[in-house]
Amino acid sequence: RCKDFSLCYWNPYWMLPSDVCGMNCFWEAAFRYGPKVQPIERMHLAVVACGERLEETITMLKSAIIFSIKPLQFHIFAEDQLHDSFKGILDSWSFLQTFNYSLYPISFPSENAMEWKKLFKPCASQRLFLPLILKEVDSLLYVDTDILFLRPVDDIWSLLKKFNSTQIAAMAPEHEEPRIGWYNRFARHPYYGKTGVNSGVMLMNMTRIRRKYFKNDMTTERMRWGDILMPLLKKYKLNITWGDQDLLNIIFFHNPESLFVFPCQWNYRPDHCIYGSNCQEAEEEGIFILHGNRGVYHDDKQPAFRAIYEALRNCSFEDDHIRSLLKPLELELQKTVHTYCGKIYKIFIKRLTKSIQDRYDRPPKER
Ligand SMILES: *[C@@H]1O[C@H](CO)[C@@H](O)[C@H](O)[C@H]1NC(C)=O
Ligand SMILES: *[C@@H]1O[C@H](CO)[C@@H](O)[C@H](O)[C@H]1NC(C)=O
Ligand SMILES: *[C@@H]1O[C@H](CO)[C@@H](O)[C@H](O)[C@H]1NC(C)=O
Ligand SMILES: *[C@@H]1O[C@H](CO)[C@@H](O)[C@H](O)[C@H]1NC(C)=O
Ligand SMILES: *[C@@H]1O[C@H](CO)[C@@H](O)[C@H](O)[C@H]1NC(C)=O
Repeated sequence: RCKDFSLCYWNPYWMLPSDVCGMNCFWEAAFRYGPKVQPIERMHLAVVACGERLEETITMLKSAIIFSIKPLQFHIFAEDQLHDSFKGILDSWSFLQTFNYSLYPISFPSENAMEWKKLFKPCASQRLFLPLILKEVDSLLYVDTDILFLRPVDDIWSLLKKFNSTQIAAMAPEHEEPRIGWYNRFARHPYYGKTGVNSGVMLMNMTRIRRKYFKNDMTTERMRWGDILMPLLKKYKLNITWGDQDLLNIIFFHNPESLFVFPCQWNYRPDHCIYGSNCQEAEEEGIFILHGNRGVYHDDKQPAFRAIYEALRNCSFEDDHIRSLLKPLELELQKTVHTYCGKIYKIFIKRLTKSIQDRYDRPPKER
């Protein structure tokens, strides 16, 4: 039908002679010379779900979606029997159009997979391999399943831009109070800083992790990420207690210039209030990311943590629902003041209240 494809008409298509298939020069030129149309950057969030962690993981993802502004891309590593459930629930949320997701089996990088298998427990160590498995992804926020976002993922994501030239990852200290710290009292291996770091919320520039040569205590040579893990585990496997978190502590002990340490309110755990409050930043600005480790969302030991979890688990994406989540939650929290964490329940909802408010103040199309 077309005599000539190469003709360029400064005309709308409908005014072209019927036998030419011209290019629309106006738009073509506009794209060529105009400001580059940048695709919106997605924030990459990874989680590893094994065992009975479906509901918890879904609640975490929901909290990420509710408050975040830029689109999210989830990388969900899950045991095979959980895949159908994840797919069913996440597909039912696809109308939101603010996220997409990929589901992966629990796996090792294809190189040396057999050797990895012999040494590493797949579920527990999956996160260490993310830079090697998600080769195309520049940066990633890894979180445990028992995390709840009380402010937009965008806010922690923006810390990536604060990294200086040697920093490759960011985590919070394992403890604020050395007297109840674990690493400084019990560890039989090196660890980062005064009290070690907690890996439940870990921001990574994986491009840099893949490029870096790491100092270590096994050879005088520096080693790449993919080469350091196996010898490290071989050396320390009898001395480590918390698995991959311990390996990360050993690595950053030897490479302290590579770690960005963010304050405790980005990874707030029962340890921060169980014997009295010791996370000062959270007292001032509220909790940003809640980390209900040791199963506190599911038992009665720390009812303040559980109340936040249940409120987010129960709420839907409807605006009214989210807005009306606070009142009953505060009533629930007031019942927890017999615990040390409950005594300071206001810091549990301080930032959350603002996040909910901000969500309504944002123009709707941005979402
Ligand atoms: C999610 O969106 C990004 C950006 O549009 C795209 O590159 C990626 O392939 C998508 N992933 C899935 C699993 O659809
Ligand atoms: C493991 O712990 C033991 C006992 O504390 C210590 O003697 C040994 O040096 C440790 N091993 C390594 C590799 O640090
Ligand atoms: C990660 O580091 C690479 C290499 O330094 C850099 O090009 C990239 O912009 C960084 N990513 C982010 C999100 O800052
Ligand atoms: C980056 O910050 C870390 C932690 O404060 C520090 O140890 C390191 O020297 C800094 N790197 C540069 C190049 O300034
Ligand atoms: C959440 O829902 C459960 C069951 O549907 C209910 O028992 C519980 O009271 C609700 N909790 C909150 C905090 O709304």
